[in-house]
Amino acid sequence: MMPVRRDLRFNLPPERACDWHAQGSHVTHFFNALSLLFPAGERFFMDSVRHYRDDIDDPVLKKQVLGFIGQEAMHTREHVEYNDLLQQAGLPAHKLDKRLWAILNFGRKVLPHSYQLAVTVCLEHYTAMLAGLLLEDATRIDGSVQGYAQMWTWHALEETEHKSVSYDVWNAVLKPGLGRYLLRTGVMLATTITFWLIVFDYHVRLIIADRKRGGHVRGMWRVLKYLYGPRHGVFPRIAGEWLSFFRPGFHPWDHDNRAQLARIDGLVAAVDAANAAAPNTRRSARRGMQAAA
Ligand SMILES: [Fe+2]
Ligand SMILES: [Fe+2]
Repeated sequence: MMPVRRDLRFNLPPERACDWHAQGSHVTHFFNALSLLFPAGERFFMDSVRHYRDDIDDPVLKKQVLGFIGQEAMHTREHVEYNDLLQQAGLPAHKLDKRLWAILNFGRKVLPHSYQLAVTVCLEHYTAMLAGLLLEDATRIDGSVQGYAQMWTWHALEETEHKSVSYDVWNAVLKPGLGRYLLRTGVMLATTITFWLIVFDYHVRLIIADRKRGGHVRGMWRVLKYLYGPRHGVFPRIAGEWLSFFRPGFHPWDHDNRAQLARIDGLVAAVDAANAAAPNTRRSARRGMQAAA
């Protein structure tokens, strides 16, 4: 699987930043909280893999690393703009983004490179699980505002496309054995707690900042169902895949969902068509700005 860097732009109506999801603002803010994690988080991923780039001999894996870095860089660019829309909508997006940069910069300083790579492997497993769920279960995002849904679907497809890259680097550069297994699984336990605490914290802060919108009883019920519902909830649906990470012979492609990737070309065409039909996209706004300057 070779990750391909795709330079896409999305038409994100700013006035829908707080309620673009079909299930209302409270579920929207769950995704928005995740979006706030990407600029700092993806930079951390790229750097932790870059530390080991010279230790990789396999030419195919070297190329996959380049594709991985190219994709994450595009995701970050788009999520920075998305997060700016959240800030403009009155949410503390920049403050929460800065807070994560501080946390991860501290990690960069104190953690050995192998730990940093382990954190990336674990969080890439998280993005792969959440992305897989988004792609496999239409109820996750269907009926939402088109540009936002397209952006999340694009991100989910590319996370799937590169889901094994950091793990393959891990296997290639660290000495096999019990130490490597314990580091990977121990970091998974620590990462799981930290990741969900931060997501929960950010999610609550966004809901509080947007509290004037109201509808809290129904909104919270929808969030609970979305995250914990026994049939479709995020946590029940990813539990098995999360556990599989603890098998000594685990590999991200054990969960073989590559069939989903057939959707990429159609999505790219749909994004292009949407941009052509809506001349007020950020891309043309930026072109206009460049022309003026
Ligand atoms: Fe990404
Ligand atoms: Fe990723």
